[in-house]
Amino acid sequence: MSDIKKVIKDKKTDLNPIWIMRQAGRYLPEFRKIREKHTNFIRLCLNSDLSAEITLQPLKRFDLDAAIIFSDILILPYGLNQKVEFVKNVGPILGDLNFNQMSKFTANFFTERINPVYKAIELVQNNKLTENKSTIGFVGAPWTLLVYMLNKKSPKQGLKKNFFEDKVLITEMLKIIEKFLKIHIKNQINSGAEIIQIFDSWAGLLNNKDLDKYVYNPTFSLVEFTKTLDVPVICFPRGIKDYKKYCDIIQPDVICIDYEIDPVQIAKNIKIPVQGGMNPKILLTDKENLKKEAKRYLDIFKDHPYIFNLGHGVLPETNPTMMEYLVKMVKDY
Ligand code: CP3
Repeated sequence: MSDIKKVIKDKKTDLNPIWIMRQAGRYLPEFRKIREKHTNFIRLCLNSDLSAEITLQPLKRFDLDAAIIFSDILILPYGLNQKVEFVKNVGPILGDLNFNQMSKFTANFFTERINPVYKAIELVQNNKLTENKSTIGFVGAPWTLLVYMLNKKSPKQGLKKNFFEDKVLITEMLKIIEKFLKIHIKNQINSGAEIIQIFDSWAGLLNNKDLDKYVYNPTFSLVEFTKTLDVPVICFPRGIKDYKKYCDIIQPDVICIDYEIDPVQIAKNIKIPVQGGMNPKILLTDKENLKKEAKRYLDIFKDHPYIFNLGHGVLPETNPTMMEYLVKMVKDY
């Protein structure tokens, strides 16, 4: 069993497994070299050999405990025939949403469209580099996907004015998203994913009164579904204010925390295994500071089942030698 599984299943507190969100990606020169030649990001995700290679790149360099599959949460709208493009220095841009068409798609149609993702998982899972490690599959949470599919771009500058106007469309879209997320989760597990992480990157955009409808109900349904497949679920509701309440309602196997929440309070109030927390910007400073901050998290969660990770994805400008230092430091703790 991998160390991550031991932390999750046996609630081990003497192990300090580590993996990093966005560990496969833009801060690695070997990734950038591939990316230069493959300008269409979605097409790159759908190239099983390259996707597997990129997934394994960080494991070749660092003693990480998990491989997270190189794909994207926006592969779901792509699978439902919504146009998804990644524009340099802008981010994702999506095409118009064709609800009538989407509501008619079958599981087979969707699975066929993104089948190379599943092939990549098989390749990764069968590679020697992932022996005794965990292969992590992932999805975007229903709310975060609804945001991208309706807003058609990142909501960094806020949601579009009439985002909540068409309540019927929103309700129906949430149902469709939830249905295909379950298919996507099951397909990933059938291909070898041993853990599923649910990224709710925009959970922090909602008011408390809207959390039931957009976050708690649909995410709980996904978590419950994944548990029936006997696979543990990590939830990352970035920006949510009340992590305790989130855990009480959703009951994930692991809660991944963002860098804005006080880890001391989390360790005190939350009993389930915890992952993450450290601000990715710390990796842009110096080794001494990095050691101090990483040690702070390890100390706080010393007697708690804890998986080291960051409080959001590793930043593109991160120097790989800082990642190397971090992984060694956590392993030697
Ligand atoms: O963690 C990993 O290394 C696995 C691969 C992975 C990617 N995206 C690859 C990627 C994962 C787990 C994601 C999740 C994802 N994608 C999230 C949730 C996590 C988060 O960051 O909040 C979100 C919101 C997206 C949507 C997305 N994809 C955005 C906003 C962008 C552009 C900005 C950015 O972060 O790069 C992407 C592109 C993307 N996804 C890249 C990678 C490696 C960069 C593509 C490039 O080279 O230009």
